[in-house]
Amino acid sequence: LLSPRPSDLDLGDFLTQYGDIFEHSPWVAEGAWKQGLTAQDNDPDVLADTMGEILQQADIDQQIAVIRAHPDLAGKAALAGELTQDSTREQAGAGLDQCSPVEFEHFQNLNQAYQDKFGFPFVIAVKGLDRYNILDAFEKRLENDLATERRTAIEQIIKIARFRLHARATESA
Ligand code: GUN
Repeated sequence: LLSPRPSDLDLGDFLTQYGDIFEHSPWVAEGAWKQGLTAQDNDPDVLADTMGEILQQADIDQQIAVIRAHPDLAGKAALAGELTQDSTREQAGAGLDQCSPVEFEHFQNLNQAYQDKFGFPFVIAVKGLDRYNILDAFEKRLENDLATERRTAIEQIIKIARFRLHARATESA
């Protein structure tokens, strides 16, 4: 009675490994565990597909909460060193930590315009992109309507998760 059931132990291990794959949203990994994945599952594409479906099938409010859990790109939190380890690495990988003051201000203006229009931050999988590609995509996506941007943000978040899962599989190999 006092010791946890084996399945609860496995959930704990699963969340230790994967709880942070979706930014500040461990319920996505928990949903994948409830679908039958275990702490022994380590195929990054199986993990990404299953967790991605959990997020796709969630209510719109829950999806928006996950989008809102993301920090701005080249934002104040990044400058202050307040990002998660994954976000820090991703933003630096795209050179966003090397913006000139003018570029940094351009990001702040776009971040604000995007937040004002959609009510959530601009999220894009930045792997393979540099800050010029990102600024181009940013200006284009600002023209979209809300439903398109919500769908795009969720797709990008699942892509980010897939990259994170692949990176972890490589690191632990
Ligand atoms: N894409 C990859 N990482 C991040 C992040 O930390 N924030 C946003 N907005 N998009 C990202």
